Amino acid sequence: MTKRIVALAGDGIGPEIMESALAVLKAATQSTDFDYEVENELFGGSAIDATGTPLPSETLTACKQADAILLAAIGGPRWTQAEQTPEKGLLALRKALQLYANIRPIKVADSLIHLSPLKPEIVLGTDFVVVRELTSGIYFGEPRAKEVQQAYDTNRYTVEEIERIMHQAFVIARGRKKQVTSVDKANVLATSQLWREVAEQVAKEYPDITLEHQYVDSAAMKLVTNPTAFDVIVTENLFGDILSDEGSVLPGTLGVLPSASHSVAGASLYEPIHGSAPDIAGKNCANPVSMVLSVAMMMRQSFQEEGIAKRIEDACYNTMEKGILTPDLGGKATTQQMTQAIIDEVSNVATIA
Ligand code: NAD
Ligand code: IPM
Ligand code: MN
Repeated sequence: MTKRIVALAGDGIGPEIMESALAVLKAATQSTDFDYEVENELFGGSAIDATGTPLPSETLTACKQADAILLAAIGGPRWTQAEQTPEKGLLALRKALQLYANIRPIKVADSLIHLSPLKPEIVLGTDFVVVRELTSGIYFGEPRAKEVQQAYDTNRYTVEEIERIMHQAFVIARGRKKQVTSVDKANVLATSQLWREVAEQVAKEYPDITLEHQYVDSAAMKLVTNPTAFDVIVTENLFGDILSDEGSVLPGTLGVLPSASHSVAGASLYEPIHGSAPDIAGKNCANPVSMVLSVAMMMRQSFQEEGIAKRIEDACYNTMEKGILTPDLGGKATTQQMTQAIIDEVSNVATIA
């Protein structure tokens, strides 16, 4: 069966890195049985410009009918003041597709520790996963309002919402080092107190997994002073957003971090953790690796194509090892040059294998 992949290129560097990712996908699947078609849809600021809304109904319908969704990035200074923003479209898409489990792996290959701004002895062996709750918490809680003299948001979690993200974390830990760190602010927040209680309850179903709790402030510190102490971090929407961007310090750039978002049923969505990088958009210097590694996650997690996923990942790491790097990693390669190098690697590996 031909797989339907919906591609949402979005704004800023989005179209540049989406082009890279689709070119690598094409190269990596050539002379394999994997058969797919790509459907490009409007999303984000470019959709606002074209249709007045960041998530047009055709885009949502296409996503609902897709086997997997690739999203590059949305947003930019042009749309921040408007009633309709690209960010609202992104949150609406996550909610509509019930993409509650956002998986953000942060791994630093031994051969690439020199790219980190941190000391090699701190970074060596870094390999953890942030499991971020994505469709609830303060991002979605009601009431919320911005009034003239005050503004407020509501952080709300139900037991069911905490349970299902905990199960994701424990299952992932089972395939790894069997250690879950639940990150909260239970010394202050009611939502975090419930979060901790539910984590303890769910942990009883996974006696082979160790559960520990950390407060988010101290976890933020340990993430960059002792990153190898983590295996699976599970946390609420806002904390996961912040901690995963902080985690990008370890590999040295946001430009290499992919993610996968899963729902209860229905297609998963794959996207870099970073945004549309307006400061470098249109300059052919964005790092394509975050988007290319998102494609690898898609091949593994949506299509069970482990071989193709591994080939794409190896191609990215080999390219970086050879010093073919975009400026965010201190190199001089353009987006297109780095993409071509990854394609050459994918093709090499494909021929040898
Ligand atoms: P950002 O993640 O876009 O950029 C932060 C910094 O990282 C910038 O200096 C940027 O140049 C750099 N960077 C990010 N990706 C890179 C890449 N692939 N290669 C090289 N450098 C890269 O965050 P921001 O500037 O705070 O936000 C810009 C816009 O993106 C905002 O509108 C924001 O809301 C949006 N955003 C969207 C998403 C998404 O689409 N999922 C995620 C985060 C932010
Ligand atoms: C991310 C982004 C989004 C978030 C924004 C753009 C709404 O920062 O995907 O990490 O906060 O979830
Ligand atoms: Mn973010």
